[in-house]
Amino acid sequence: MEKSYTKLLENNKDWAIRKKKDDPDFFKDLADGQSPDYLWIGCSDSRVPAEVITGTKPGELFVHRNIANMVVHSDMNLLSVLSYAVEVLKVKHIIVCGHYECGGVVAAMGNRQYGLIDNWLRHLKDVYRYHHKELDKITDKNERARRFVELNVIEQVHDLGKTSIVQNAWKKKQSLHVHGWVYDIKDGIIKDLDVNFTGPQDLHAVYHLDNILESEGKHK
Ligand code: CO
Repeated sequence: MEKSYTKLLENNKDWAIRKKKDDPDFFKDLADGQSPDYLWIGCSDSRVPAEVITGTKPGELFVHRNIANMVVHSDMNLLSVLSYAVEVLKVKHIIVCGHYECGGVVAAMGNRQYGLIDNWLRHLKDVYRYHHKELDKITDKNERARRFVELNVIEQVHDLGKTSIVQNAWKKKQSLHVHGWVYDIKDGIIKDLDVNFTGPQDLHAVYHLDNILESEGKHK
């Protein structure tokens, strides 16, 4: 009996043949290396496929996805992707893209216990607490969830700016902009939240990191 997953392999063969037919050098060019301009940090949700919704091709997006598009400073996976994207690939833009109807965000608003994932969702609950005055005022649960999605994206843009990886790139005058977007599953449109971090001036001063050598001299 044919297993449904084999459909994926058939699709893949068809795709490879089609691509090669359209452009005989397609795979040869990609095999030569990558130099994407964008790092995409998005949700793992199957309804938010980064390349499909942005019309980008292989080689254009460096991608990290996790539940609710979080930038967690103890997450080695995120930090490794960020470090490689910024220091080696020298991407010019980092896009945090959340989405409305995010299961992670909705779960974090409630009190149900899910198990291991509660440890991940707690980072979202912290975001809720930072903004509880604004969020608690929104009586409609769906509207509150939508605003929480937006505030979470903005918070993750801040979290990227806090990292030494991003700050050191800015110190080296590397052009690196961090953006916050939200995708709407209901109409397929991405909303730009207009949070654009282009340098340390966009961060509260308490997060500013001195140059590592300067720091040693200053604080001896
Ligand atoms: Co989600």
